[in-house]
Amino acid sequence: MSDPKKLFIRTYGCQMNVYDSERMAEALGGAGYVGTDSADDADMILLNTCHIREKAAEKVYSELGRMKELKTARPDLKIGVAGCVAQAEGAEIIRRQPAVDLVFGPQTYHRLPEMMVRADSGEKVIDTDFPAEDKFEALKDRPKARRAPSAFLTVQEGCDKFCAFCVVPYTRGVEISRPPERILAEARDLVERGVREITLLGQNVNAYHGPGEGGDWSLARLIRALAEVDGLERIRFTTSHPNDMTDDLIAAHGEVEKLMPYLHLPVQSGSDRILKRMNRQHSAEAYIRLIERIRAARPDILISGDFIVGFPEETAEDFEATMDLIRAVNYGQAFSFKYSPRPGTPAAERAQVDPAEASDRLARLQALINEQAAGVMAGMVGREVGVLFEKPGRMDGQMVGKSDYLHAVHVSGADVAPGDLRRVRITGAGPNSLAGALA
Ligand code: 5AD
Ligand code: SF4
Repeated sequence: MSDPKKLFIRTYGCQMNVYDSERMAEALGGAGYVGTDSADDADMILLNTCHIREKAAEKVYSELGRMKELKTARPDLKIGVAGCVAQAEGAEIIRRQPAVDLVFGPQTYHRLPEMMVRADSGEKVIDTDFPAEDKFEALKDRPKARRAPSAFLTVQEGCDKFCAFCVVPYTRGVEISRPPERILAEARDLVERGVREITLLGQNVNAYHGPGEGGDWSLARLIRALAEVDGLERIRFTTSHPNDMTDDLIAAHGEVEKLMPYLHLPVQSGSDRILKRMNRQHSAEAYIRLIERIRAARPDILISGDFIVGFPEETAEDFEATMDLIRAVNYGQAFSFKYSPRPGTPAAERAQVDPAEASDRLARLQALINEQAAGVMAGMVGREVGVLFEKPGRMDGQMVGKSDYLHAVHVSGADVAPGDLRRVRITGAGPNSLAGALA
């Protein structure tokens, strides 16, 4: 028998891409590939790409330039481009970088083994279909490998909201929810491999409406069913839209012990004028009231968000409204981006904000968020929290894990192993992590 071929995958962008890359590795594992950490000795390189902002997409082309040199030295090397840039640009990628052998979107990676056969015979393969068959089903009988304590599980994909800045509805397609019974089976399988925490993924995860027993299940119903899975200790979900934050989901935060007190709920802007132009379909006030209701159900919940600054026509006054909203909410964490025009989306055609002004606003917004996040972390000192340990830290005898609130926590000299869930008293807060001791 010949040696197994080596596969190198580089993943860009969101957590769903991380999940998809794992599925690609499993699909190719069945076709005789083993993973490698280095592009230099790989027989096959896959770039799993992100199209959400222009910078993310441009990075792919510069990386492909480097990969081409590897291929000049080793002509048998196969190069594939997967994910949302592949979906959006298709054949254009091979036109710009002829060293690429395969281009395939987020909905077709279960077909990788057959694509590889075609690529091996010298064909350029492009597959950006939205096929009728289900990639999740095609990949369910995967090898039983041991897993890290925390795993992602895609439950919903795509988006029908069409925010004016966003490419997701075009690259990931319409909103589709997986049936709850398949999700529960995948969760049980993950637990058997050592997983104790599952983060449910979807571009619009709280719009989940999977066809199950007795009709469509809501995300809250799915979470309550997952909470019954023995050995699964923690449940999280991301990313949510404010308009799909239903009463039963809010209530679950107060009632389901395994559901962690952390909610990523992007608002993008605090100006009603901009929210309208973004097609967000809610006001700043409605968002703030929603946060109040969520905090009434779970007072200690940590709120996280996403913000876009410099959206077309954003004035200094609009930006101040965003700062006011941030002050009203007090975020434990947030991601913020300068608006990036995406071809084919409505906002790309509108009057753009001066880039220097946008950079200035972004810096001010990030300073405020950092101040709030540091305050939330400092408030953890003296408290006892759950920590799921994941791996050894950089220091001798140190272990690192994640708190209930998703903060990294370092504990030294304790007898704990990856996968242990323990109570920890927080003793100190640094800029990026907390320190603690077993309680
Ligand atoms: N420009 C800048 N940021 C964007 N996002 C989505 N599209 C764009 C864009 N065109 C941000 C939003 C979203 C996050 C995943 O990325 O804040 O919530
Ligand atoms: Fe994009 Fe999220 Fe808006 Fe959907 S809800 S269009 S994924 S920003």
